[in-house]
Amino acid sequence: MQAETPRLTFDIKPNTNPMPEADRLKAFENLGFGTLFSDHMAVIRWSEGKGWHSAEVTARAPFPIDPASSVLHYAQEIFEGMKAYRTSDGRAVLFRPEQNAHRFNESARRMAMPELPEEAFLEAVEKLVRLDAKWIPKGDGASLYLRPFMFASENFLGVRPSKEYIFCVIASPVGPYFKGGAKPVSIWVSEHYTRAAPGGTGAAKCGGNYAASLVAQAEAYAKGCDQVVFLDAAEHKWVEELGGMNVFFVFEDGSIVTPPLGGTILPGITRKSLISLAREEGVTVHEKPYSFEEWKADVASGKLKEAFACGTAAVVAAIGTVKYPEGEFQIGGGQNGPVTTKLRDALVGIQRGQSNDRHGWLHVIDGI
Ligand code: PLP
Ligand code: COI
Repeated sequence: MQAETPRLTFDIKPNTNPMPEADRLKAFENLGFGTLFSDHMAVIRWSEGKGWHSAEVTARAPFPIDPASSVLHYAQEIFEGMKAYRTSDGRAVLFRPEQNAHRFNESARRMAMPELPEEAFLEAVEKLVRLDAKWIPKGDGASLYLRPFMFASENFLGVRPSKEYIFCVIASPVGPYFKGGAKPVSIWVSEHYTRAAPGGTGAAKCGGNYAASLVAQAEAYAKGCDQVVFLDAAEHKWVEELGGMNVFFVFEDGSIVTPPLGGTILPGITRKSLISLAREEGVTVHEKPYSFEEWKADVASGKLKEAFACGTAAVVAAIGTVKYPEGEFQIGGGQNGPVTTKLRDALVGIQRGQSNDRHGWLHVIDGI
């Protein structure tokens, strides 16, 4: 559903009642994840026949939602997750934002939603970051998390794609995703619940996938774990991904394995970047199925040395403990391993402008 859209002009309406600076700086002292929001939001609307229109950056405010709005009934909704960083030399940068714009449209196609021209996606994000530049926190581990999303907004109860949509970007200054900071995380293997089946929406970043993961994530919390890891829906055997992150395994011969993309897992931008960085270091990376049985056996034999989760929110987090209904095991003595640390440092070094951005992954927002 590619909409014919003339170039959009954003109406910029600065918030007349922004958060006082002292309150913002106080809030920056203790940043968690996703609870504090900036002063503005970017919005673009779509309607059938008209395409994308009414682009603006305006004061962050609730949307009035009619009870018949189709997103409330059939969950036609997609989103993205990306970050703006303040580099050590003071630049405001985004990391590979065109990848998010591209994935957003892949999600849109899967959910029968209109595609947003990539330049409009990028302009909305950039204009919001410009207006909310003071909301980019400085310092290690801190960033401005950006959440572009789109939802069906037609008031209609028949089951078919909506004829109206709202695209919006909000911004949230964040610290570490996990409460333990850089400490290795513990994960719960969901042997009962699955996240996505072949032919389903697993590769799309749609809210429904996360709704389906919540009961398994709640089980993980109840078992004292930080995250849930899902096995495949067909055989309940192959490791797929975590509730909100991709997963990697590091072996004693130095090689790395990560589950292949195949429609049931999210094609992570962090995953893709780490595969490139590892291969450039001469590391062999296999994108191949890896079973939970192999995982247990390889830990027991000492063949598996490290495992880690990765994603925009979580960055790179070592997996220290794995629990499952019949038992639990530790990886690398529950400590951060050297390969995980090296890859995280390489990625973060680029994102923070501390190392040479030889791939051109950083998108600098000039003048702020
Ligand atoms: N898998 C899931 C289910 C996610 O929610 C995320 C986070 O966005 C990822 C993987 C990692 O993707 P990315 O590295 O693009 O943030
Ligand atoms: C992200 O990393 O951007 C996500 O959307 C994952 C979620 C755990 C916040």
